[in-house]
Amino acid sequence: MKVFIIGSGGREHAICHKILESPKVEKIFVAPGNAGISEIAECVNIHMEDTRSLLAFAQKEQIDLTIVGPEAPLVAGIVDAFEAEGLKIFGPNKKAAQFEGSKAFTKDFLIRHGIPTAPYKEYLDVEKAIEELDQFGFPVVIKADGLAAGKGVIIAQNKAEAQKALREIMSDKIFGDSGNKVVLEAFLTGIEASILCFVDGETILPMAPAQDYKKAFNHDLGPNTGGMGTYSPSQIIDDEMMLKIKTRLLDPFIKGIHEDGIDFKGILFIGIMIKGDEINVIEYNVRFGDPETEVTLPRLENDLMEVFEAVVAGRLDQIELKWKPEHAVCVIIASEGYPDAYEKGIEIKGTHEVENATVYHCGTKSSEDKLLSNGGRVLGVTALGNTLEQAQKSAYEAAKCIDFPKSFYRTDIGDKIEL
Ligand code: AMP
Ligand code: GLY
Repeated sequence: MKVFIIGSGGREHAICHKILESPKVEKIFVAPGNAGISEIAECVNIHMEDTRSLLAFAQKEQIDLTIVGPEAPLVAGIVDAFEAEGLKIFGPNKKAAQFEGSKAFTKDFLIRHGIPTAPYKEYLDVEKAIEELDQFGFPVVIKADGLAAGKGVIIAQNKAEAQKALREIMSDKIFGDSGNKVVLEAFLTGIEASILCFVDGETILPMAPAQDYKKAFNHDLGPNTGGMGTYSPSQIIDDEMMLKIKTRLLDPFIKGIHEDGIDFKGILFIGIMIKGDEINVIEYNVRFGDPETEVTLPRLENDLMEVFEAVVAGRLDQIELKWKPEHAVCVIIASEGYPDAYEKGIEIKGTHEVENATVYHCGTKSSEDKLLSNGGRVLGVTALGNTLEQAQKSAYEAAKCIDFPKSFYRTDIGDKIEL
């Protein structure tokens, strides 16, 4: 098969790496890809939101399956465009991608279908939102309705902070049109986890749970990021918890999309908050998590291409996911300053010298045989081990081998936690 992957991060590098194991795969193209991906696949210089050019490329190359990594092309309707031309593509269509494209859409769905989530209200008018702030108590969670590159959620500690954030989002439009509508939501406490599932419209198959570290610095200090590291399996979600997740969140999701006439095929990423017996949905995403993918796929025993094909063909009920018993840890090496301003174009050395680990490229490019940083999150170093401690040790030993000035990483990814 000829496969076309859309995206340029560690997630797409990990997908590419995994499907290369499949005997079904003859050739992989990635648009636009990155320096690491270009070592294992052919990168094509097309922007990931240039649907027309992506479609023309897939037609010209007679691609058998296109796999979409990031949310923006999905929300923009790339799946509908490919399917209209009879091309096979993995990911939800435009209607289903609203689960990530609109916070208000998701909250309305959750409440109507009795799926537990924090109380909320949506607003089009900034003054009305400010007037009703007290109904939610503080801290209050303020969410720009649309996509905002992972930055659209603000937790305001008091009324003054909330007013400022609402004005910035709704009046100053710091997230552009994504802030035309906002959702105000009660603040939940507890432990967060991510559940990634394959969905074919009828069957929902959860993957082995991964734990993401969203804050920039050790001990969960500093600003929120896209994710500074992950490990799998989770210490938090055992079989009993997974059963609760299935009956309270996954089965009602399938029932809900049937009732609403939404054909969801692809990945459903469920962000949850667990406190005692309570499990609330914080958000849905409609694609693989990054860096969750970098610890999930290396543990998958199945042929990932077979799973992708089963999703597209609507026969996921015939698939049983199998996981390696090993633990996986991924440490993200980021540019100094991330998630705020950072430099790009810094030379990185030593990625080929690491042992007992895989270096996934999240934001890199090559120039005259040099490897250069090209983003906030730059590399994801993943190691497997028989125990969480072993995987952690190997990942950090590998991270230390990499010579990347003006970078930083957390040193507590995978630490044992007290439950
Ligand atoms: P997102 O950018 O949509 O992944 O959300 C960012 C983060 O905001 C989540 O990972 C949570 O840590 C936090 N968050 C979102 N909603 C709530 C909530 N209702 N209560 C507490 N934290 C929340
Ligand atoms: N790691 C969180 C995400 O992919 O949204």
